[in-house]
Amino acid sequence: MCGIVGYVGPRQAAPLLLEGLEKLEYRGYDSAGLAVRDGGALPQIVKAKGRLKALVEKTNGGLAMAGTCGIGHTRWATHGEPSEGNAHPHASAGLEVVGVHNGIIENYQELKAKLEKSGYTFTSQTDTEVAVDLIDYYYKKYQEGPVGALGRAMTRLRGSYALAVLFAQHPEEIYVARKDSPLIVGVGEDETVIASDVPAILQYTRSVYYIGNLEIGRLKGGEAAFFNIDGEEIEKEVTQIEWDAQAAEKGGFEHFMMKEIHEQPRAVRDTLNAYIREGKIDFSEVGLTREEMAAIGQITVVACGSAYHVGMAAQYVIEDLARLPVRVELASEFRYRKPILGPGSLVIVVSQSGETADSLAALREAKEQGAPTLGIVNVVGSSIAREADKVLYTLAGPEIAVATTKAYSTQLIACYLLAVELGRARGLVDDGEYARLLAELEALPGKMEKILEDKERIQWFASKFSNARDVFFIGRGIDYACSLEGSLKMKEISYIHSEAYAAGELKHGTISLIEDGVLVVGVLTQEELFGKTLSNLVEVKSRGAYLMGLTAYGHYSIEDTVDFAVYIPRTDQRFATSLAVIPLQLMGYYLSVARGLDVDKPRNLAKSVTVE
Ligand code: AGP
Repeated sequence: MCGIVGYVGPRQAAPLLLEGLEKLEYRGYDSAGLAVRDGGALPQIVKAKGRLKALVEKTNGGLAMAGTCGIGHTRWATHGEPSEGNAHPHASAGLEVVGVHNGIIENYQELKAKLEKSGYTFTSQTDTEVAVDLIDYYYKKYQEGPVGALGRAMTRLRGSYALAVLFAQHPEEIYVARKDSPLIVGVGEDETVIASDVPAILQYTRSVYYIGNLEIGRLKGGEAAFFNIDGEEIEKEVTQIEWDAQAAEKGGFEHFMMKEIHEQPRAVRDTLNAYIREGKIDFSEVGLTREEMAAIGQITVVACGSAYHVGMAAQYVIEDLARLPVRVELASEFRYRKPILGPGSLVIVVSQSGETADSLAALREAKEQGAPTLGIVNVVGSSIAREADKVLYTLAGPEIAVATTKAYSTQLIACYLLAVELGRARGLVDDGEYARLLAELEALPGKMEKILEDKERIQWFASKFSNARDVFFIGRGIDYACSLEGSLKMKEISYIHSEAYAAGELKHGTISLIEDGVLVVGVLTQEELFGKTLSNLVEVKSRGAYLMGLTAYGHYSIEDTVDFAVYIPRTDQRFATSLAVIPLQLMGYYLSVARGLDVDKPRNLAKSVTVE
């Protein structure tokens, strides 16, 4: 997820573009850049690695860049790590075409190879540079002008994109095109602005055009014309924005956490699309070959917090599909335990930020012992990503809320893909099973959306327990791993004490804590364990517990036992955590809101724990 802006009108563009990028920094902040042109002169391009302030300083607040037409970008790296060379804008040779992009071009390698055959050379590792050169290629080849070139390029680009493009032969004009990534156009008296999101527009105007998928825009000062992919002009209605800037940053949601809970289907889809190509898992960018996977004898997953809970779920899935022994270790323990890593060990470090001190130290300990390491990381170019031997990036985009949701969900996806591929490499997953599992994974985002449609029921239920003192989450197998995450969400944002317990373990002591009215949440997505966990719920009910049961559609008999049932769509039960966790995330969220707490910034917590 990145932020793009553009301005064309009577005023100097650069300072305005920087202001717009400041409003979009929550969409990405590892590097930034501007391209500004003064009349017919070619664009001046300035880029800087790091937070936006580096670019502000480099351009003296934009005053060093003359011109009234320009585009800008603040980056969240997906292809190519954060650097000045990978920062946008990207330009074709001779600055004929200069562009910025938000989204993910899934087939950029294939297009890059074709363009190289046509003599194009590349200076960055980004998919964006490929898109810009593709537009340049069609612009020169067919001489149909910017709209024609964009239209042709869009028929070849696969993935998501919001593009803003300057053409050397078309001064004082900005061209835009989009598919799936957000882009809006604001038109004022004699100036036109574009942005990825509302906050960067509001300072100019509340009259906006929303560009539809596969549509193109031609923008001049105070004017906007729109075209379909075939270059035919289309009429568009102006919309008035009602949101204030703060609400807009959160996409209209009250908190970043709720916005990010709702971004999970898209984040999961993006992560799946990054590694599933033509019906096969493709780890070529990870550098993990089938042969290497077949040689693995033991896996140790090391992480903290929610990332550790991902490891707990992954353990069941990998052991089930690949019949490989998996240990899951808290990084803060692993780093001091003088861990014994047997031959053929692979150490997987899971970390959203890639900067968690304990996880980074654990990675170094594993490398010290000569074990091969794989990072599952969300931040491109972060310490763990750079120091691990190989890295499997998740594509959750920037996660602002301290309580992780979409990053956790994409980490699960990364582990599922690994489990399936390991099973395949070890000859335990045949063609039919492979195809079925991939289909189940690709169906997850739609099922997640379905769960989110029913969130008001969770809100109603959570509001009944805003004064709870103790909440228990119980489950068996993968449901226990899911319970761990549900409990942490509850604790860290509502400050209600909570505990996750392996349901079969309750009777060994903890059940003595169950008394009248204590809420016990049972997670029952694993078919063969359903009856066992249900019996545990009956046990705690007989001691006065108030029961919520979370299970798949069809298990309606649960309503004979629990006081409140939540159902999730059926899926391959190895992947059930991805669905079951959503009602639990919502419960924690609604309880925190009901208690009037700071959901996005809970007390005593940091987004990335970079100290011991
Ligand atoms: C999760 O909601 C917490 N914010 C926390 O447990 C987090 O998962 C943990 O600190 C690990 O962070 P990382 O994934 O960035 O390494």
